[in-house]
Amino acid sequence: MFDRLRSRSIGRICSRAWDRVPVRAYRVSIKDIAGVGYRISPLERGLRSSVEAPSPGAERARRRDKLGSQIHGSADMVVMQSKRRLLVLGGALAAVAAPALITLPALAERKGGGGKRKGAEKKDEDVSPPEDLMREHGVLDRVLLLYEAGIRKFASNDDFDPEMITQSAGIIRDFINNYHEKSEEEHVFPRFRKAGRMTDLVDVLLRQHEAGRKVTDNILRLAPTGRGNTDDRKQLVGAMQSFITMYRPHAAREDTDLFPKLKDVVSSNEYDAMAEDFEKKEHQLFGEDGFEKMAARVAQLEQQMGIHDLNQFTPR
Ligand SMILES: [Fe+2]
Ligand SMILES: [Fe+2]
Repeated sequence: MFDRLRSRSIGRICSRAWDRVPVRAYRVSIKDIAGVGYRISPLERGLRSSVEAPSPGAERARRRDKLGSQIHGSADMVVMQSKRRLLVLGGALAAVAAPALITLPALAERKGGGGKRKGAEKKDEDVSPPEDLMREHGVLDRVLLLYEAGIRKFASNDDFDPEMITQSAGIIRDFINNYHEKSEEEHVFPRFRKAGRMTDLVDVLLRQHEAGRKVTDNILRLAPTGRGNTDDRKQLVGAMQSFITMYRPHAAREDTDLFPKLKDVVSSNEYDAMAEDFEKKEHQLFGEDGFEKMAARVAQLEQQMGIHDLNQFTPR
């Protein structure tokens, strides 16, 4: 099965051909294409795969075509929604299709295709570097909510397991400090420095990363004893509060000031390579679906902290 990284790479190779497609394309399966008499070249014949124009004998030829039968046997191809996306057939085939020939019923079928297909499509998303980083900020923000819940519990003397604070800080250390911020420091900040753009902001953001790591170390050190020892609890609450106070504006500035300008300071090739670098690193550190696993860990902690039900925050 193709993972996101591999499908991105193929998508880039295919993109030149796909760019010639003038209008928006939609998700279809191989059946949708082959069913109207089109033939699709296998990936190994080159990623210049094409959709040939129909001919009077096309349907008969398709039925005889061995490849066609293999394609129908797999029936696991995904055509991406934008011009930058690609076709994937069970990790073996890729093709570019003329979108005008794709029927609306086929589109409707694929859009409502259920959880399994949804999962497969998710792997082929073409996530830009800013979107990738901003999703990671979503994880960060949810941990800040966990810290706030912990602070409230300490303030009201609620009995709760401080291990939840330790695990929350562990996510910050592993996913934010050692992965997300490293990505920013190694790939994003140097580009702005080199271009002489927003260098004051970059300096502050970098200093905040360094400060954040120290605060996280303190939270991890104090959490186990924070419930029983009054001094440790005070320091722990102070550390969590200072982390929240720094990171809310930190992430917001990156999202609204820095990331939108990233395209101005890198070439399109660098921009694409950056997305792959992020993905590669994420796979190395956290395995496949690293982001999804991390979000699931956060959700589990939210359940334990009693803040997972989103509706509790809706004003009555
Ligand atoms: Fe940052
Ligand atoms: Fe960030």
